[in-house]
Amino acid sequence: MPSTIDLRSDTVTHPTPAMRRAMAEAPLGDDVFGDDPTVNALEARAAELLGKEAGLFVASGTMGNLVSLMAHLPRGHEAIAGASTHTVMDEAGGHAVVVGATIRALQERLDGTLDPQAIADAFRDPSDLHEPLTGLVVLENTHAHTGGRPLSVAYEREVAQIAHDRGVPLHLDGARFWNAVVALGTTARELAAPADSVTFCLSKGLSTPIGSVVVGDAAFVARARRARKLLGGGMRQVGVLAAAGLVALSDGHDGMVARLADDHANARRLAEGLARLDGVCSPGGLGQAGDGPLDPTRAVTNFVLFRVARDRAAFLAALEARGVLMVPYAGGSIRAVTHYGVEAADVDRVLDAVADSLRATA
Ligand SMILES: Cc1ncc(COP(=O)(O)O)c(C=O)c1O
Repeated sequence: MPSTIDLRSDTVTHPTPAMRRAMAEAPLGDDVFGDDPTVNALEARAAELLGKEAGLFVASGTMGNLVSLMAHLPRGHEAIAGASTHTVMDEAGGHAVVVGATIRALQERLDGTLDPQAIADAFRDPSDLHEPLTGLVVLENTHAHTGGRPLSVAYEREVAQIAHDRGVPLHLDGARFWNAVVALGTTARELAAPADSVTFCLSKGLSTPIGSVVVGDAAFVARARRARKLLGGGMRQVGVLAAAGLVALSDGHDGMVARLADDHANARRLAEGLARLDGVCSPGGLGQAGDGPLDPTRAVTNFVLFRVARDRAAFLAALEARGVLMVPYAGGSIRAVTHYGVEAADVDRVLDAVADSLRATA
């Protein structure tokens, strides 16, 4: 029986052998005392790569966004964000429950961007005491619901200008920041520069078992560190986890950033193969307009979104029976995500399984 090909998410990745070794050998200390040299090295490395003053290792992308919101937004303030972003949709309402903030959610365009004019118009009038005070703009890069679309440096700059002109910071939810860097052919420093704070995940395409890093200026990171403690996220000999992150971000052969290009190529190969199959169509909604054929050129990072002219649950079950896992996604679509451990030959096996499952559920 061939092994299962799990395309549900890039979060299913396991640490590489080099990460396992680094984790076993990492020098450790109590990180709440600031004593863990491996955590300190990871935070410094992340800050240096993204051109910010300081970094903070956190348990997850959700925690990274939450401590960033806590650090930026006084209670009763409001953030402007895309309506289908993870921060709005998928973080259990942390902005409301924990931060005490509202979110002004704007509809994204098909390329994952928000209309800059709509952002400018969404700012509240601070002289009107009925309104909350706008305190933050949040962008998601890559933007998941539009199929992992990378937002360009020029676009980030435009949004940052709008925010900064009004005295408001810009936070980047860069859960897949490195996918955006690679897909755009830019540098982490360039892509992070317009934002005042960035969260990026180590445990997605970069394949570490746990963790994200938040970066920004020293005062912001100090507030975020306090917020992390409040959430119970002050961890102790956590260098065992940070060690994997240092491997992922290393320049050498064990680094995990450059190889994201392979994931992107495999996603495109998958999308092209899917587009040739009868019964596969555009995901519709934000993933792509209309009900027409799947446009494979929309697969520019490691996500492929599509729909099937079948009962979706029956199709996914048929696929699973053939050793391939994908997940239901927004608007009736299906999501497949390429990652470390999925090779071009696996993509061909997936396409055979999809063709077979389409026949079985016709
Ligand atoms: C865009 C985006 N932001 C944030 C997160 C949260 O990351 P985590 O699952 O580590 O909390 C995710 C997770 O999938 C995500 O896709």
